[in-house]
Parts: sequence; C-alpha cells; structure tokens
Amino acid sequence: MWIRILIAAVVAVSALPAAAEDDGRTAGLLDGHGRTEAAQVCTACHTAAEFVGERLTRTGWSMVMSTMVDEYGMEAPDVAVQEIVLTYLSEQFGPEKN
Ligand code: HEC
Repeated sequence: MWIRILIAAVVAVSALPAAAEDDGRTAGLLDGHGRTEAAQVCTACHTAAEFVGERLTRTGWSMVMSTMVDEYGMEAPDVAVQEIVLTYLSEQFGPEKN
C-alpha cells in the first residue's frame, strides 16, 4: 500500500520537468550534453524551431551566436557556457546529421 503511494509520488514528481518543458519552446532540441544550457541560452527569444533545422559546423554555430549577440541583442553567455552550447549545437546539429 505505502509502496504504491510512494511510487505514485515519485512518478508524479518526475513527470513535472517534462511537463514544464512541454510548451513547445524546446521542441526539437535533441538529447545530449549541453541541451539544458542550449535551451536556456537559445530559446529565450524564439523557440528552438528557429534553428533545429540548421546543419552547421562549429564555426557556423559560432557565427550564428555572434549574430544573436551583435544583431539581436543577446547577452553573451560566459565563455564556458558558450563552449558547452557550441559543442552541443555542432554535435547535435552538425553537417553530418540528417
Ligand atoms: C536576445 C534574443 C535572442 C536570443 C537569446 C537568441 N536569438 Fe536567435 N534570433 C533572434 C531574433 C530576433 C531572430 C530573428 C527572428 C526573425 O527574423 O523572426 C533570430 C533568428 C535566429 C536564427 C535564424 C537566422 C537569422 O539570422 O535570422 C537562428 C538560426 C537563430 N536565431 C539561432 C539562435 C541560437 C542558436 C541561439 C542561441 C545561441 C539564439 N538564436 C538565441 C533573437 C535571439
């Protein structure tokens, strides 16, 4: 009996983050190291749909990020965060991906 309530509680709690993200903003962001950072940095102004169709090299993604900063007023993230996001984008949305 108690174990059932416990399981129900765990299931309910673990379902929360998914539900919170399920507003479409991050749809299309593939799982991978850096997804959380990319979601924070890149879905503040538009949804991920704006860029998940792109297939770019790391240099290409770096240029995209510069454009967001220079043209669209994005606050440049810490260098460490930039690295994580650029690695994520070039690994998950690189030229060799379908
Ligand atoms: C400060 C707001 C802001 C942030 C943060 C932001 N963008 Fe954008 N982004 C924009 C605007 C504004 C546009 C132009 C939208 C339009 O034309 O409808 C845009 C457009 C784009 C485009 C389409 C190409 C273009 O130049 O119009 C891509 C790709 C893109 N963003 C990727 C990203 C990525 C990747 C990140 C994270 C590194 C990011 N954006 C973060 C504001 C932002």
